[in-house]
Amino acid sequence: MPDSKATAIAHPNIAFIKYWGNRDDVLRLPSNGSISMNLEGLSTKTEVKFNPQLREDSLILNHKKLGGPALERVYAFLDIVRKLSGRQIYAEITSENNFPTGAGMASSASAFAALALAASNAIGLNLSETELSRLARRGSGSACRSIPDGFVEWYEGDKDENSYAASIAPAAFWDLVDCIALVTTSHKEVGSTAGHRLASTSPLQTARLQDAYRRLDFCRSAILKKDFQQLAEIIELDSNLMHAVMMTSKPALFYWEPQTIEVMRAVRNWRGQGIPACYTLDAGPNVHIICLSSASDKIQRNLAQMNFIQQVIVSKPGAGAASLPD
Ligand code: PMV
Repeated sequence: MPDSKATAIAHPNIAFIKYWGNRDDVLRLPSNGSISMNLEGLSTKTEVKFNPQLREDSLILNHKKLGGPALERVYAFLDIVRKLSGRQIYAEITSENNFPTGAGMASSASAFAALALAASNAIGLNLSETELSRLARRGSGSACRSIPDGFVEWYEGDKDENSYAASIAPAAFWDLVDCIALVTTSHKEVGSTAGHRLASTSPLQTARLQDAYRRLDFCRSAILKKDFQQLAEIIELDSNLMHAVMMTSKPALFYWEPQTIEVMRAVRNWRGQGIPACYTLDAGPNVHIICLSSASDKIQRNLAQMNFIQQVIVSKPGAGAASLPD
């Protein structure tokens, strides 16, 4: 049997309505639906080469051979792909991120979206967008949102078949910008896979989940109406709710640094002054400032005044995962 290889690219995404907690950790079925925007400026490019001569999978990330838990996670993911195709064949995976590694930018969404597309193509599966989204979800929940284009909703579902993401609107629909303020790179974090398992230990998680459909409706309609004030209100509330759950879980997870709060405060002040901007944070201390593109230069100038900020990465809404020619 000949080598079969394929290459794909995918972007990470920033959630406006967050995913935190699973109803099923193995299948990565989330406790609530979520909404996100793909980030054009950042990407992961992955080549997968299946070869009948190989005895095991191998992984090179940013020119470095990886073993340990990273390889094990990829190996478990490729097992799902092998099972789907009915072929017991191993692969060499070569992957590269265009964003700085170790800068505290989560990369599992773009990583597993690109891997799902490249691996399924290379092994000869011809998956639909929904099937690809379901597959990417098994590697990292949020990766299912990096498969469709632009502004995306992940329907929580209650089984593998109905838990997938679909586009609400294409990337070009609304010219929002995400200015990502990296406030520290030395932070030790609890990864999201471990974090999801703790969500239900917070007494606040039940309230957060009970209100989730309302927030999803409010966010979806803000996007479709391009109503920035409405979007800002729900994005900040949702981020605060997720971090309240994190801070009250057992053990408690505190992702914020003092500089994080300083940036959050500044963003609220700017909005008070009429600048269309709001903040959201993932499982880390960096602040994503979502704004209208007309405000992006002003925000970057403001951030440049805060000398503790190590770097600002600016990104527009991005496309979904795509195959690349070899
Ligand atoms: O896909 P995971 O398991 O890395 O979880 C992502 C969790 C958050 O980034 C904190 C929220 C989200 O919806 O992206």
